[in-house]
Amino acid sequence: MQDLCGRNIDYLRLSVTDLCNYRCRYCMPESGICKRPHHEILTIEECIEVAEAAVSLGVKKIRLTGGEPLVRRGIVDICRALRALPGLEELCLTTNGSLLQELAQPLRDAGVDRLNISLDTLRPDRFRDITRIGTLEDVLSGIRAAEDAGFRRLKLDTVYIGGFNDDEVGDFLALTREHNWEIRFIELMPMGPCAAWDRTCFLPVSRILEQFPELEEIEPNGVARRYRLPGAAGTVGLISPVSHDFCAQCRRIRVTADGKLKGCLHSKTEISLKGLHGEALADAFRQGILQKPARHYLAERPSDTPRNMNQIGG
Ligand code: GTP
Ligand code: 5AD
Ligand code: SF4
Repeated sequence: MQDLCGRNIDYLRLSVTDLCNYRCRYCMPESGICKRPHHEILTIEECIEVAEAAVSLGVKKIRLTGGEPLVRRGIVDICRALRALPGLEELCLTTNGSLLQELAQPLRDAGVDRLNISLDTLRPDRFRDITRIGTLEDVLSGIRAAEDAGFRRLKLDTVYIGGFNDDEVGDFLALTREHNWEIRFIELMPMGPCAAWDRTCFLPVSRILEQFPELEEIEPNGVARRYRLPGAAGTVGLISPVSHDFCAQCRRIRVTADGKLKGCLHSKTEISLKGLHGEALADAFRQGILQKPARHYLAERPSDTPRNMNQIGG
């Protein structure tokens, strides 16, 4: 379905939990979050109904997000049910990778087409520092498990943070020489805990092109401009939500784990889907798509959403 700006909305990001086993500094407070009462979170049946309504309005791709989607009980069942929806072309999942050793194969068997794995640093001490809890080796083993399970075209998402990992770009690029992965650098978006961080943490990803002029441009994909090192097996993506917003091409709509439809990641506007079924649910979706904001204002001010990223799912 088209929104009022003529954008064709065919991509739903469905958050299945706001909980996470990590506490990335830019995303969540150290204490975690108050666990929402169970009845506020979409049940498995409700997740499926929401997905059905979205597909009936033209959504072709669903990405499951969190928090960390793999901590959600029943995640494999949710994936299996969504994959069976007629009309859905692609089922993807964005994960921190920590639980893939156990779950990569079941997810593959349930029909998940593609995984994006977040990885902000290749250094064990920095990994512990940014996630506050995590162990780099768990994620590296998770990536191997994903490949062993048959996942291809893996994307590794690195939030590019001045003074934290901007000196590791070369190490990440080196990974693409042998591995058929897409390493994507994403500009840090001022929202939640990081909205108050020093300006020096927020760098345009265009710096990477200045530092590595050997990167050759290839065709873009989704929101990422893409490049390749000469002769490399993998590719490099640059995602610049702050310096070059891609709102005019945005095809996304989001549903949070507590059942709120969000037209834009950065807007305050939400429509509650809890308790809606059938035509009423589809109508709420139509409204959400029609009211999708034209753009965000991140270049001028921090995100308007009062939510932390884990409560939206990116
Ligand atoms: P593909 O299906 O592989 O193209 O994935 P994707 O890029 O849509 O999903 P992913 O979850 O890997 O998101 C990549 C990054 O882009 C994450 O850090 C998100 O927070 C960020 N992002 C996703 N959607 C939006 C959006 O609508 N606006 C902005 N500003 N950033 C977004
Ligand atoms: N800016 C950019 N990316 C972010 N993510 C979480 N918070 C932010 C932020 N403020 C990323 C995660 C993950 C994806 C879902 O969103 O690292 O890759
Ligand atoms: Fe968890 Fe992802 Fe937030 Fe890190 S960025 S705390 S992995 S939801």
